[in-house]
Amino acid sequence: MEFSQLIKERYSVRKYKPDMLRQDDLNAILKAGMLAPTGCNYQPQRIYVLQSDEVVAKIRSLTRCAFDAPVVLLIALDETEDWKSPLEAGCRAGIQDVSIVADHMMLAAWDRGVGSCWVNYFKPSEVKAAFDLPKNETPVLLMTLGYPADDAKPLKLHYESKTVSEIVKRL
Ligand SMILES: Cc1cc2nc3c(=O)[nH]c(=O)nc-3n(C[C@H](O)[C@H](O)[C@H](O)COP(=O)(O)O)c2cc1C
Repeated sequence: MEFSQLIKERYSVRKYKPDMLRQDDLNAILKAGMLAPTGCNYQPQRIYVLQSDEVVAKIRSLTRCAFDAPVVLLIALDETEDWKSPLEAGCRAGIQDVSIVADHMMLAAWDRGVGSCWVNYFKPSEVKAAFDLPKNETPVLLMTLGYPADDAKPLKLHYESKTVSEIVKRL
């Protein structure tokens, strides 16, 4: 799909067909994430594919925002692996790295007809414990994946855009 059309059309999908995600679609989405830039190329993102009935049921029990998606990605940050700035204490790249990886995957998904929703509505500590993540990893977001239901449509929020002058300041 042409890029400007893709970024305009994409919306957060919250209603899915029951069909399992095809392996080639999942692989292409994961590969797009691997192509994303990260600070110093340290690639601190860790991606867990939740796909079996058992783990999908578990994530649905921890957030109402897993919806009826057949696949959910749990995207975490390895806190020991992201770039830390030597210039100012506390400045680091981890959340930005995870976010750009997630965005690459979200756009690659739409390009293949796969819907997604970025989800922050969960308790990271609860999800970390439930899936027994290593001590140094923190869940940052969940991403639902699946083919949009025939009657899936964007929420009103999708159309609410601030004006350019509210967002862009020329100095
Ligand atoms: C950081 C972030 C967190 C989000 N968390 C949630 C969430 O927990 N649940 C949900 O349904 N949508 C969530 N969304 C989706 C936004 O609500 C959605 O992207 C926004 O309203 C614009 O709509 P659109 O994606 O359809 O264009 C999140 C999006 C982002 C970028």
